[in-house]
Amino acid sequence: MDEYARFAALYDPIIGPFLRPIHKGMLSALSAHHCHKVVDLCCGTGLMAGMASDAGLTPVGVDVSPAMLSVARQKHPHATFIDGDASNLFFSDNEFDAATISFALHEKPMDVARAILAEAVRVIRPGGLILVADYRLPTSRQSRLAGWAISTVERIAGKEHYDHFSRYMNNGGTETFLAQSGLPGQPVKTFMSGWVGLFINAFQ
Ligand SMILES: C[S@@+](CC[C@H](N)C(=O)[O-])C[C@H]1O[C@@H](n2cnc3c(N)ncnc32)[C@H](O)[C@@H]1O
Repeated sequence: MDEYARFAALYDPIIGPFLRPIHKGMLSALSAHHCHKVVDLCCGTGLMAGMASDAGLTPVGVDVSPAMLSVARQKHPHATFIDGDASNLFFSDNEFDAATISFALHEKPMDVARAILAEAVRVIRPGGLILVADYRLPTSRQSRLAGWAISTVERIAGKEHYDHFSRYMNNGGTETFLAQSGLPGQPVKTFMSGWVGLFINAFQ
């Protein structure tokens, strides 16, 4: 079953504008580190891969949703999109300069999220980058409204999706998830009143 079939057509017009600054932040980091060949895991409608392609990079988007991939291919014909499971990639080791994962880890069962991250580590070359953008716990109490809005969107996505989101946040969000996966670090930038962080890990 395609979990995103109902949302694919609405994703870019409704969610896209909120994600644009975050994808831009990821693109800046890729450019600053001279990353050219990039795999965007759980690429959705190709917002990130499309932006990277427009900037002259060579992105490959991977997603399991035929509906999301169909939008991606239609809107970003110069990028490559592949139907595949990001937790079990068919790429060789060290194939990419960087892997990006935005807004996917929070919605997966913990073992699948960990497998996706492990695959990202495997397919990047030594010295490559892993960029993760996902939900985190803000320190300020002023951000209640943004937290409520995010929680509402996650609830609309369905019970299973919301359960995974809740567990991810109750576990401490992306900082904790990455630390438990052996990639500790603070966000280089936060968005949405602190509820989203961009995390960059470089591998030697
Ligand atoms: C919330 S969307 C995020 C899309 C995109 N990364 C963005 O920033 O707009 C999550 C995406 O992850 C995809 N996805 C979920 N599990 C996946 C898996 N195991 N392998 C590949 N894609 C997956 C979904 O189909 C969906 O398109």
